[in-house]
Amino acid sequence: MAKIYLITSGKGGTGKSAMAVNIAAALADDDKKVLVVDLDLGYRNLDLMFGIEDRVVRQISDVMEGRCSFSDACNLIADSKGFLYFLSASQNLTWSVNCAQKIKELLLSASASFDYIILDGPTRIPDEMCELAQIADKILLVMTPDYCCLRNTDKEKSRLIRFGLRNLELVMNRYDPGLVAYGFLSAEEIAGLLSLNILGLIPEDLTFREQMGIGNPILYVNRLYDTSQAFLRIAKRIEGNQVALGIAEEDLSDYNAT
Ligand SMILES: Nc1ncnc2c1ncn2[C@@H]1O[C@H](COP(=O)(O)OP(=O)(O)O)[C@@H](O)[C@H]1O
Ligand SMILES: [Mg+2]
Repeated sequence: MAKIYLITSGKGGTGKSAMAVNIAAALADDDKKVLVVDLDLGYRNLDLMFGIEDRVVRQISDVMEGRCSFSDACNLIADSKGFLYFLSASQNLTWSVNCAQKIKELLLSASASFDYIILDGPTRIPDEMCELAQIADKILLVMTPDYCCLRNTDKEKSRLIRFGLRNLELVMNRYDPGLVAYGFLSAEEIAGLLSLNILGLIPEDLTFREQMGIGNPILYVNRLYDTSQAFLRIAKRIEGNQVALGIAEEDLSDYNAT
């Protein structure tokens, strides 16, 4: 059965979709069979981020309404050498209890065919989706290291816990340890304030933004590049290996040692 990771955030635009694409590519790089599902219903982006918008002809609603099989709706990402698949959200679906229940059933039956399923969720998952969120082995809260995002992440963390969702971890995106000198909180301080483990740190990176903007997962541009290596470290940590978070090692003791 696949391990299911749901990606969400307390604040919009923190990089959830960019994290979903690139964490999935990094897991597939380690020969894991991975499915990424765009669950930002009505606001899909991942087809653009994978650079395959012209190829996506089936969406999750086609499977839900019986117009095609689950596997027919999945798109193989060519650069992944057969390990990474993508299922698109539907622009015309909105969250309801019924919709969430159907998607949950589809995902549970697909999970036998994959090692990992990565769900790119919306900002602040809607109440109707919380039941579906129960199937996630981990919920990743993607945040940026600023006070506004900290406040919203903290609030969303409490809300998710109220829904019984306790398996939460942080992905700290756009991290620049140099900003700590200007009054920003360090990753370590944020992890402490939120009492959550950090799964990974991704640097602020203009090249990454440019490449995502033209549909290129960074690993397929250059796997030796710093940001590619940061995603490969996240994949290793997901797989249970002891791997340093990276980025300014001297600044970052391993918060997650338990
Ligand atoms: N580490 C980063 N460095 C630079 N730009 C980033 C980084 N992470 C995300 N971005 C950019 O930020 C924007 C929002 O990212 P996106 O993944 O769409 O956020 P969300 O899914 O949370 O709305 C995109 O233009 C993306 O390329
Ligand atoms: Mg998004």
